[in-house]
Amino acid sequence: MPLLDSYGRKIRDLRVSVTDRCNFRCFYCLPDGEPPMARKDTILTFEEIAYLSDIFVSLGIEKIRLTGGEPLIRKDLVKLVRELSKLKPALHDLALTTNGFDLPRHAAAFKDAGLDRVTISLDSLDREKFAEITAVDALEKVIAAIDSARKYGFEPIKINAVIVRGRNDDEIVDFARFAREQNLKIRFIEYMPLDSGHGWQRDQVVSGREIVDAINAVYPLELIDQNRGSETSWKYSFADGSPGEIGIIAPVTEMFCGACSRIRLTADGQIRTCLFSTAEHNLRDVLRSGAGRDEIVEFIEGVVMKKEPRHYINDAEFVQPDRTMSFIGG
Ligand code: GTP
Ligand code: 5AD
Ligand code: SF4
Repeated sequence: MPLLDSYGRKIRDLRVSVTDRCNFRCFYCLPDGEPPMARKDTILTFEEIAYLSDIFVSLGIEKIRLTGGEPLIRKDLVKLVRELSKLKPALHDLALTTNGFDLPRHAAAFKDAGLDRVTISLDSLDREKFAEITAVDALEKVIAAIDSARKYGFEPIKINAVIVRGRNDDEIVDFARFAREQNLKIRFIEYMPLDSGHGWQRDQVVSGREIVDAINAVYPLELIDQNRGSETSWKYSFADGSPGEIGIIAPVTEMFCGACSRIRLTADGQIRTCLFSTAEHNLRDVLRSGAGRDEIVEFIEGVVMKKEPRHYINDAEFVQPDRTMSFIGG
């Protein structure tokens, strides 16, 4: 039986954060200052993650995405990838979201270990602006990461760009051109209130509609599919047949919770049933208390039944969750 929540949504997608640490300080995620970190002994070991993933896959999880913080900071991550790829073919898709900084060093090993796909975050194509956004002067490294992803066969390569008014909204068309020239899938993401600095303001959100309109005026777009299933993005191709693809992820202005298929496991073993959950479910303690497989299954099934119907970003009483994107991983 697949995992079903109380609204009948099938849960097929597990995002596993492998560390809450990051080597960047993106202002929309983890601005300056030492963030609170999970204690080392609370972080799940690779054996624990692999065991739990095996259980999740037996419950119908088809996609696992490794996230962070920055997942490549976790030592020997390739070993975990190797273990998780043993869950194929029941596991259809094993992916990684990274800031790219260390990807060139590891790309070949990841391919060999069975990683299927990578998504690379890139919020500016201008060196100085990139450094202002991330607090690290590393645009060249991230461009090199894209090249290495291509070299080692992680195509199609997806790029995540969070667009924030007054910071990088003047680069929307540049990104579209980059998608065309480099044959990339660039996904524009609306800024969500998940930043550790609690600096999010509604007027900083550049809506998905505004982004499409800006690109369309220069490079006409065609919606690829009217029905996006449980995916986060609307996908567009270029009407002139150019390579590349545009994705629009608009959780703030066009909520997509009704078809959500995702749950998340934090680095310290908490299940989060929504990016915006205000409560977490301590799977680590269940596992470490010596529970058998059946008990763990029962716990997971019970937690999934508590999955929230939707986020409340647009409601007057919205409260930002305590744990921010750097813990949850996107
Ligand atoms: P694939 O379909 O596997 O390629 O992954 P994806 O399209 O879900 O992409 P990815 O995991 O890179 O997610 C992209 C971004 O979309 C995340 O970093 C988040 O910012 C946002 N996002 C992903 N899932 C959700 C979700 O369930 N809710 C909301 N509100 N935003 C999400
Ligand atoms: N709003 C939207 N997306 C965010 N990300 C991080 N913080 C936010 C936020 N506040 C995205 C990053 C990265 C992914 C892991 O999450 O761009 O690609
Ligand atoms: Fe799913 Fe929560 Fe994201 Fe909505 S906000 S799509 S319910 S994870």
